[in-house]
Amino acid sequence: MWLTNSSIGRKLVMAITGACLILFVTFHVLMNAVAIFWPAAYNEICNFLGANWYALVASAGLAALFIIHIIYAVWLTVQNRKARGNSRYAVVSKPPQVEWASQNMLVLGIVIVAFLVVHMIQFWAKMQLAEIMGCHGEIPPQAGTLFIDAAFSCWVTPVVYIIGFVALWFHMTHGFWSMFQSAGWDNNIWMPRLKSIGNWWATIVVGLFIVQAVVFTINAHNGTYRNCPALQEQYREFKSEGKNAVLVEECSACPESAVPQCCQNK
Ligand code: HEM
Repeated sequence: MWLTNSSIGRKLVMAITGACLILFVTFHVLMNAVAIFWPAAYNEICNFLGANWYALVASAGLAALFIIHIIYAVWLTVQNRKARGNSRYAVVSKPPQVEWASQNMLVLGIVIVAFLVVHMIQFWAKMQLAEIMGCHGEIPPQAGTLFIDAAFSCWVTPVVYIIGFVALWFHMTHGFWSMFQSAGWDNNIWMPRLKSIGNWWATIVVGLFIVQAVVFTINAHNGTYRNCPALQEQYREFKSEGKNAVLVEECSACPESAVPQCCQNK
C-alpha cells in the first residue's frame, strides 16, 4: 500500500498521527487546568470517563496513534540512515539552518516515551486500568485529584515531568511545521509563518504543563486535595459507589504501587 511502501506515504502517516497527538496534548493540558480551578469538577470528569466504553474507545485510538507514530519514526530513521550510508559520519559540522530539534527527533521521542511510561504507571494504571480490572488501592479510581496529590507529593515527579515537557517542546516545535511540509504545504511564504505558529503553540502548551506541575506540587505539599471538606465528601461518595471493587492487596492483577516509596505514607 502507498502509505507503507513509499517514503512520502510514510511521512504522511507521521504527519497525520503527529497532528492528532498535538491535538491530544492540547486537550490534555486544558483538562488539567480544570483540576487547578475546579478540582471537584475534574473528579466528576474522571468519573464520567472512567472505563466506560467511550473512554475505552478513545484510549485505544490514542494508544494506536502513539504506536503507529513510534513505529513509523523508527522506520523512517533507519531508512534515512541506510540511504545516507557512511556519509552520515563524514559530515561533522551541520549547516546552521538545520535545527537541533530536527537532528534529534528520535532521541527526543525516546525521552517522551520514557516520561510516558512513568506517567502511565502513576495515573492510567491506577485509574482506568484499575477500573477495568475491577480492583484498586485505597484511592477510588475516580478521585483524580488524589492521584495528582500522591504523584506530586514526591519531588522526583516534577523533575521527571519537566524533563519530559522540555523534550516535548523541542519535539513539537519541529514536528508542527514538519507535518505541513510532509503534507506538501511547503513554500517560502507559509513555512516561516507555520514555524512561528508551531513555536507559539508548543510554548503555550508546554508552558501550561510546567505551571501545572509547579501548582500541583505546591498543592500536594499543602494538602489542598486531601484536606478540603467538599473533596473529602466526594471521595467518600466514590468509595461507596465502588464498594464492590476488590482492594489491590486482594487482587494480584493490579499494579500495586507506582507511587514512589517516599509518598506512600500520605
Ligand atoms: C502536569 C502534567 C500532567 C498531569 C497532571 C497529567 C495527568 C493525567 C491524568 C490524571 C490522566 C488520567 C488517567 C486515566 O483516567 O486513565 C492522564 C492520562 C494520560 N496522559 Fe497525562 N498528565 C500530564 C501530562 C501529560 C503529557 C505531557 C502527556 C503526553 C506527552 C500525557 C499523556 C497522557 C496519556 C497518553 C494518558 C492516557 C489517556 C487515556 O487513557 O486515554 N500527559 N494524565
